[in-house]
Order: sequence, then structure tokens, then C-alpha cells
Amino acid sequence: MDKLMIRGGLPLKGEIRISGAKNSALPILLSSLLADSAITIANVPHLNDITTSLTLLGHLGAGVIVDEKLSVEVDPSTVTSQVAPYELVRTMRASILVLGPLLARHGRASVSLPGGCAIGSRPVNVHIDGLRAMGADIVVENGFIEATTHGKRLRGCEIELSLVTVTGTENLMAAATLALGVTILRNAACEPEVTDLANFLNTLGAKISGAGTPVITIEGVDRLGGGHYRVMPDRIETGTYLVAAAISGGSVKLKDTDPALLTAVIEKLELAGATLESGDDWISLDMQGRRPRAVDISTAPYPEFPTDMQAQFTALNAIAEGSALITENVFENRFMHVQELQRMGANIELCGKSVRVHGVESLTAAPVMATDLRASASLVLAGLVARGNTVVDRIYHIDRGYECIEEKLSQLGASIRRLTAAQGQQKHKEVIH
Ligand code: EPU
Repeated sequence: MDKLMIRGGLPLKGEIRISGAKNSALPILLSSLLADSAITIANVPHLNDITTSLTLLGHLGAGVIVDEKLSVEVDPSTVTSQVAPYELVRTMRASILVLGPLLARHGRASVSLPGGCAIGSRPVNVHIDGLRAMGADIVVENGFIEATTHGKRLRGCEIELSLVTVTGTENLMAAATLALGVTILRNAACEPEVTDLANFLNTLGAKISGAGTPVITIEGVDRLGGGHYRVMPDRIETGTYLVAAAISGGSVKLKDTDPALLTAVIEKLELAGATLESGDDWISLDMQGRRPRAVDISTAPYPEFPTDMQAQFTALNAIAEGSALITENVFENRFMHVQELQRMGANIELCGKSVRVHGVESLTAAPVMATDLRASASLVLAGLVARGNTVVDRIYHIDRGYECIEEKLSQLGASIRRLTAAQGQQKHKEVIH
């Protein structure tokens, strides 16, 4: 398994480009199954989760062509299977996003039930309840969600989501585009990725309004056609590099991004003592060598502070001046990075769904283990400021969501390199002994 080795202590400096958003590209790619002709999707990031999505689309029979600039052409007209197998769903929970599109377009879907994962149990009951309300007959047996419309179209209806769910909203919104009549989703997720998916579907001929607010109205249409769409920039990747600059006392400019999507994160970085400037498609952060001040964080659905930035701010607080309370309200088990940060000398107390972080002056390098995507990012950030060489193991989690992370950090002046499985073992011994 590959590892990342980071030598800490260098302030980041320079400019990089932000990639297309993983959590937008995934639903967009998978809901292209709703259309009846070819679609081109640009600004798709080069990530393991994207490769898994393309494999899943290919498995279902769709034509998939990737060009050298990472535009992807999907031709859903050749789909022959409606089965998302365990092997693919197991590696990527977002595979559940084929459920609504397959059911709406082909009248049936058989999708392996995603299990729990490192950050929580993550059930999909809201997806299933919503599709049932639209007339689908759904049973869960042998580990699969077996859904059928018995040859009829889904029916538009009013659905009050029992909790705010991002992929749940996306699945139901996508399914409703081909339903008979109007669907109204209440208590819908307002995340920008939901809006991006709605914009994509509207490009294909869907009639969706209200995306980005808690009430989304979808007027069903008879068919969706082909089209061209560009995925929005990744706000979480943007936030992660801003924290990388802040934690290292550096100064970076991030291009091809959308600062308007980062209000809650920017507010916290300013409270931490950073100076931020931005234009339409760029943002810069300057820490002028200062140590950050600790900032309290409480995660909640958009537009509040994103759970996907919680681990990175835990790392920032670990070396900040003062102490701060971090509360995780979205997932029940998203503090797996805490034990690893403690191994690097962080002073963090776990108390239920919160942690109290007492900033220390410096961290020390240690071999650490990534447990999920954002936890891994927090360990890399800690490695940027720790004394010595930090080796982060299990970085396949990082490769699921951060495009070219070591190239981008190197471009900003970090000392970071990927160790292949054999090199990693050797280095591990050197670091320990
Ligand atoms: N939930 C249920 N039942 C459901 C659906 C959700 O109880 O039917 C619960 C979840 O267990 C969780 C909460 O509702 O406690 C919110 O989960 P949500 O459904 O919104 O999460 P998701 O759609 O599975 C997406 C992102 C996550 C991100 C969350 C929250 C994608 C592919 N994934 O997950 O991204 O953390 O929304 O914003 O869009 C990541 O990128 O690292 C990541 C985990």
C-alpha cells in the first residue's frame, strides 16, 4: 500500500489550481443514466472514486470515453444491466446514486446495500422511503435493494425528507426528473453539489427549480437528452489547501475555484488570524508566519460549517494558540483522526460528539494511519508542521478524493513524496529506529 512521507516545517507558498468537485462529479456522472443520448462532462477530477463510477457505468453497459483533459463522454443509450454489484458499492458508497436514475429510466434497479463506514452507520432509508412514495416497490433482500416500478413511470408527489441528506436529495431529485407529474422535495439538502446536479439535469432537459433551497420542485419530463456540462470547483479541496497554508504560516493563491461557496470556512480562517482575499474564481490566504488562534467549530448541513472540513480544522487547532471546542453534528463517528493526531503530540480530549483541542506549540512526526478521506487530509496537514518525517499510511483514502495531492503540495513548497509499498516499509523502519 502506498504511503505519503512529509517533512514538516516549511511554510507553503505559491499558486495552484483547484480540481472539479468530487461530490458533484459523482452524482452527475451516475445520473447521466437518465438520458437517452451521449453527454460530455468536463472538469472531472482524476480520482479513484471517479474511476469506480466509470467502471460502474461501464458495468451497466453505458459507453464511457475519457479524453486526456479528463472530459468524460457517457453514452447511456447502450445500458443493458440495472445491477450495481457489491464489489463496486463496497468500494464507493456513492454508487447508491444509480438507484433513482436506473429506476426512473429503466423501471428497475438492483443495488447492493452500502454497509456502514469509518465515519458512521450511514443508512439509506430516506432514499428508499422517497422512492416508495413515488410508487416504487422496494425490498431489501440478500444484501441488495431490489426496486421496481412494475413497468410504470414513477409518480410525482410531495416528499418531506425526515432528515437533511445530500445524496438522498440527489437520488430523489434525479428520479423525479422522469416521473409523471410534479415532485416537491421538502427539507432538501442545500449543498452546492445538489445545485450543480440540478443545473446539469436542466441542461439535459429536466425542469428543476429551487435547488440550493430546502424546497425543490421537479416537473417530470418524458425524456432527457444529451448535452455538455462542466463540473463546479471542489470547495472542500479549496478549504483543505487554505488550511494547509494557515497551519504552516504560509501564503497561497488558489485558482479556478469559487470562494462564494466557502463562507463558513473563510469566517473561521479569519477568526484564526489569516488574511484572505478573493475574486470571482480565486482565493488567497496569507498567514504571515503567524501561529493560528484556536477556533470553535460546529458542523451542520450547508450553508453552515461542513463536516468535510472538520478534521482539517482539528489539525489546525492542534497547533493553535488557545483551546477550542469542535462539535460534529452530521456523522456519529467522525473523530478517527483524533487518536492519530494524539500520536503526533496533539492535546485533544474526546467527549461524546465533541472534542476539546488544547493547542500545543509543535507536533512531532510519527507513523500514522488514514481512516477515511478527510481524516487522511488532516494527518497530511499535521505532517506539514510536525518536526521530522511523518509517514501517512493507507493513503488510498486520500486518492479517493484529492487529485494529485503530493504534486499540488510540492508545487506550494512542501516536502512530500509518495512511497510505494516496498519503499514505505523501508522508510517506516528508518523513522521508527
Ligand atoms: N442519513 C440517514 N439516512 C439516510 C441518509 C442519511 O440516517 O437515508 C444520515 C447519515 O447517516 C448522516 C446524515 O444523515 O448522519 C447526513 O448524511 P448524508 O446523506 O447527507 O451524507 P451522504 O450524502 O452519504 C455526502 C457526501 C459526504 C459528506 C456528506 C455530508 C457525497 C458523495 N458524499 O454524503 O462526503 O460528508 O454528504 O455533507 O456527496 C467526503 O467527501 O469525504 C464525504 C464523506
